[in-house]
Amino acid sequence: MSNAQTSPLAHPLTLPCGVTLKNRIAKSAMSDSLGDGAGNPTDDQIRLYERWAKGGLALSIIGEVQGSPHFAEKPGNLILDGHSDRGLFERLAKAGATGNAQLWLQLGHAGAMADAPISTPKGPSALDLPGLTCGALSLDEIRALPSEFARTASLAKQHGFGGVEVHAAHGFLLNQFLSPLFNRRQDAYGGSLQNRMRLLLEVIAAVRKAVGPAFPVGIKLNATDQLEGGFSEAESIEVVAALD
Ligand SMILES: Cc1cc2nc3c(=O)[nH]c(=O)nc-3n(C[C@H](O)[C@H](O)[C@H](O)COP(=O)(O)O)c2cc1C
Repeated sequence: MSNAQTSPLAHPLTLPCGVTLKNRIAKSAMSDSLGDGAGNPTDDQIRLYERWAKGGLALSIIGEVQGSPHFAEKPGNLILDGHSDRGLFERLAKAGATGNAQLWLQLGHAGAMADAPISTPKGPSALDLPGLTCGALSLDEIRALPSEFARTASLAKQHGFGGVEVHAAHGFLLNQFLSPLFNRRQDAYGGSLQNRMRLLLEVIAAVRKAVGPAFPVGIKLNATDQLEGGFSEAESIEVVAALD
């Protein structure tokens, strides 16, 4: 037997939801800017995920798939909502599943870091700092977010993708809620860590409810913001425990 077959990387991995990945090699979420500018996949993008799948990995994740066009990270992000081209998304899902690979969508919302030329950035709190100006989301806008993430997750499942990953890292919206540097709210979504993680827990619960217990739901979380006064390692451990 060759090293490649005996390596732990070659062993299947069964996730808690019951789905088995054929090996331990995953391509982490990358925002590939290969959407068509209106949020739909392109032939180039479909070919890329097919090539990656043919390379033998078990899982690849498309970064920054948006639930609406309003808070995109980049103009080339995919947008999966009621207006999406179902046929193109289904082709992408099928190509990425070549050879029994899994293709997951990372569910993103850039919030205060939304791409200003195409969005109006809004985060947990209004900020006017060098290089970062944004408005604050209203309570009604915040309350609408879990069902928006859930709708995209549900569409991902319907279109044939293998799973989803909720993006709560890298300074984007759900990370902004966790971080006291971005989140200065004084309502139920700001202040204590319990309040700062409320939106994340609501999003995860809504996504799980939408896709059922047997569909992979991942999360990307910073271990720390690495900024003084930001989301800390001790806090991230508490968030992981709450998610668990
Ligand atoms: C071009 C590029 C785009 C990326 N886009 C995303 C993204 O959309 N979402 C995300 O969570 N991480 C994104 N990342 C971060 C990667 O998923 C990964 O966490 C990071 O590259 C660290 O892993 P590495 O040390 O193996 O590169 C991106 C990285 C690169 C290089």
